[in-house]
Amino acid sequence: MPVLELREVSKSFGGITAVREVSLSVNPGDILGLIGPNGAGKTTLFNLVTGIYSPSSGEILLDGRNLAALQPHQITNSGLARTFQNIRIFGQMSVLENVMIGRHCRTRSGILGAILGMPGVKKEEKETRERCLELLDFVGLDVDPDEKASNLSYGQQRQLEIARALATDPELLLLDEPAAGMNLQETKEITSLIKRIRDAGKTILLIEHDMRMVMGTADRVAVLDHGTKIAEGSPKEVQRDPAVIKAYLGDEANVVA
Ligand SMILES: Nc1ncnc2c1ncn2[C@@H]1O[C@H](COP(=O)(O)OP(=O)(O)O)[C@@H](O)[C@H]1O
Ligand SMILES: [Mg+2]
Repeated sequence: MPVLELREVSKSFGGITAVREVSLSVNPGDILGLIGPNGAGKTTLFNLVTGIYSPSSGEILLDGRNLAALQPHQITNSGLARTFQNIRIFGQMSVLENVMIGRHCRTRSGILGAILGMPGVKKEEKETRERCLELLDFVGLDVDPDEKASNLSYGQQRQLEIARALATDPELLLLDEPAAGMNLQETKEITSLIKRIRDAGKTILLIEHDMRMVMGTADRVAVLDHGTKIAEGSPKEVQRDPAVIKAYLGDEANVVA
């Protein structure tokens, strides 16, 4: 069964149709690359899958369950985690605390228990800390865990956001342009991290504006343009697709103009 399935999903905002009758399915353990020019509807699609928006029409199934029937906390509990196109971390909190926030939805006592100092919380808190330190190591973030998050470089903040998403133990991870604004070296590192996450058994939906990055990581690629899925296939197939080439050339023409 697919981890995620979209059946003719559309989303309109007033007169704009941001996503138009998109069908898509993501199989367990796959990296599906979602590419397309700016404004193609990629982020809107993530907002639909994570329940921030409801589809104007169509259905979204998570592990075969209709998303429309789930409450927000049930969506998180169903094993979905994401990162954002614009980094969202808590700058005034420490690096470790930022990861622990992700973990708290998985611990029995939760964040309230930690604040109230309930019995049994100490032991769980210690386990949580250890698990989060492991995750910082896994994402390759080699900094003092007590450092204020706002002191990290841009690339490090991106790694931190991924560590926090992983702390929820997701089955499906949605990454929205994780390499945006990164230099070449940082892009290489994030690419290898994405592969490590997949090798750890996660399913990944990867949005990228830059086609080259997706080509090196994705098993399959779907291309959105003006809200419509214009192509889907292996990276090689998609790269050769005339409709895709046209969409990207059109985009570059817009950038130049
Ligand atoms: N909340 C919203 N209200 C109105 N329009 C929106 C909203 N969110 C996205 N859009 C529009 O939907 C289209 C797709 O945007 P988006 O999903 O962010 O594209 P992408 O991530 O591919 O660059 C754009 O035209 C954008 O302006
Ligand atoms: Mg976007």
